[in-house]
Amino acid sequence: MLKGRHLIDIMDFSTEELDEIFELANEIISGEEKFSQVCRGKLLATLFYEPSTRTRLSFESAMMRLGGKVIGFSDARSSSVSKGESIADTIRVIGCYADIAAMRHPKEGAPKIASMYSPIPVINAGDGGHQHPTQTLADLLTIKSIKGTMFNLKIGCCGDLKFGRTVHSLIKAMSRYEGNSFTLISPKELKIPDYVKKELDNKNVEYSETSNLENVIDSLDILYMTRVQKERFFNEEDYVRLKDSYILDREKMSRAKEDMIVLHPLPRVNEISYEIDRDPRACYFKQVKYGMYVRMALMMKLLGIQ
Ligand code: NCD
Repeated sequence: MLKGRHLIDIMDFSTEELDEIFELANEIISGEEKFSQVCRGKLLATLFYEPSTRTRLSFESAMMRLGGKVIGFSDARSSSVSKGESIADTIRVIGCYADIAAMRHPKEGAPKIASMYSPIPVINAGDGGHQHPTQTLADLLTIKSIKGTMFNLKIGCCGDLKFGRTVHSLIKAMSRYEGNSFTLISPKELKIPDYVKKELDNKNVEYSETSNLENVIDSLDILYMTRVQKERFFNEEDYVRLKDSYILDREKMSRAKEDMIVLHPLPRVNEISYEIDRDPRACYFKQVKYGMYVRMALMMKLLGIQ
């Protein structure tokens, strides 16, 4: 039963529960009209303490396409936090107004704290450099739909693996499906955190680390590119030095498999050259669409709407 639950970490849901969400998302995709009023009278609160247009608008359009409405803020300065209100109080107040909340916060663990005090389902829409479970739902649905399977895939994650929360959630999620292995491609300064590697070790999931994309691209089924997370750097100099570590261009793509897919949570900066957009293997805009549908399905499930 997903009704009334929170989604803070992708591991909060079993693979069966994820399948339930994907099934509903596919139903919505194949007949959106039927769902256009199912959330009538429901209110989503988007509590965004950190800038985001993509994810916030994805949640908002998802709720509106289900016939519900949206309240919220997109800047902590315009909320009572600026007056010193705690997360616990904010969510208790919002819980009196709204039926479900999506929260993004620069501090790791903030949505978890909110969920402990919340009378309504809380969805983690990204907490600092930690996790981003709904991006992972979008990624998994994209993989399942385009590759036709979530098993036995060679997944390359490239870029800022240290601060890139989408990668942390994706690795956790994909390592639950048998036969997947990971190639972690990053400059040494932006390597994946030890806690993520430890989880892979504990589950005996195969992975390797490298700083060279060219050398490994031909072995991959999925290439997940990420942006260097400028806002989490302590100094500008390091960012400038590392920001263009990887640029996926035609030359590199020519070495990749015919059916490798390229994903990216977006926003893109320089890491995928625009010439790749026309390559049929570029799936990042499809991923955006799947992201909205999967958020529609997720909110319906958490609200207990059949
Ligand atoms: C990601 C995020 O916010 O973590 N973007 C997103 O959710 N669409 C990735 C990023 O900001 O680079």
